[in-house]
Amino acid sequence: MSVHSQVRKVTTHVLNAMKLRGEKIAMITAYDYSMARIIDEAKIDAILVGDSASNVMAGHNTTIPITLNEMIYHAASVVRGVSRALVIVDLPFGTYQGNSREALASAIRIMKETGAHAVKMEGGEEVLESTGRILSAGIPVMGHLGLMPQSIHKFGTYVVRATGEEEAQKVLEDAQKLEKAGCFAIVLEKVPASLAKKVTASVKIPIIGIGAGPHVDGQILVLHDVLGITQEFSPRFLRRYHNLYQEVLGAVKSYITDVRSMDFPNEREQY
Ligand code: KIV
Repeated sequence: MSVHSQVRKVTTHVLNAMKLRGEKIAMITAYDYSMARIIDEAKIDAILVGDSASNVMAGHNTTIPITLNEMIYHAASVVRGVSRALVIVDLPFGTYQGNSREALASAIRIMKETGAHAVKMEGGEEVLESTGRILSAGIPVMGHLGLMPQSIHKFGTYVVRATGEEEAQKVLEDAQKLEKAGCFAIVLEKVPASLAKKVTASVKIPIIGIGAGPHVDGQILVLHDVLGITQEFSPRFLRRYHNLYQEVLGAVKSYITDVRSMDFPNEREQY
């Protein structure tokens, strides 16, 4: 029997071809096996094991505390649930900014220990050397421009980025530099839709927007926001498709009531 699966997998080349055909790319985050299975069955194109795990899985205020070991744990769990989608993993804060050797070592650990297909890094010009070194080892790299949550203490707030001419020009030039360095795609977070449109038209690689309007090649959202598990986070760009927080609350309350009243377990639920 062949060890290769029969499922047609999404690769970085598939995403590039989708941009060329004008087909929109749907991306979402995941952090665990069970959710990854459901998302993959829904035929999402790509899954990001985001360092937003630091917020939604670990309860931190920022993405800064999450470690490489923790990202590897989440990513390996996700990969075990996926048979079709492209799986991309965030390099966490502090594992690639120091120097390009360290960046490569972090990316290699992710690839070897998780089975994921690509890594993502925040930054443009500043991370070009690391991007090149990781790519030279045969590891696909996704860029991330605009609002970069790992730099929150530099930015000071999570407000929309690049509203001024100078920062907008840097985003545009950084996108072109990342494309030239060999990145297969770029996440563009929370920038004006008009700038996102310009960036998308200026490069051949897919631009995946989050809070960047409709004129990009695809969209990404955080799974917990889409499902309504997070309640307090409500930016304008977010569309919630469910209120899972209330659903889970209701289900657990019913379970507690049934246990306390001895309605559970009933005769059919015992041996
Ligand atoms: O960590 C993350 O979830 C991300 C997305 C918001 C793009 O980087």
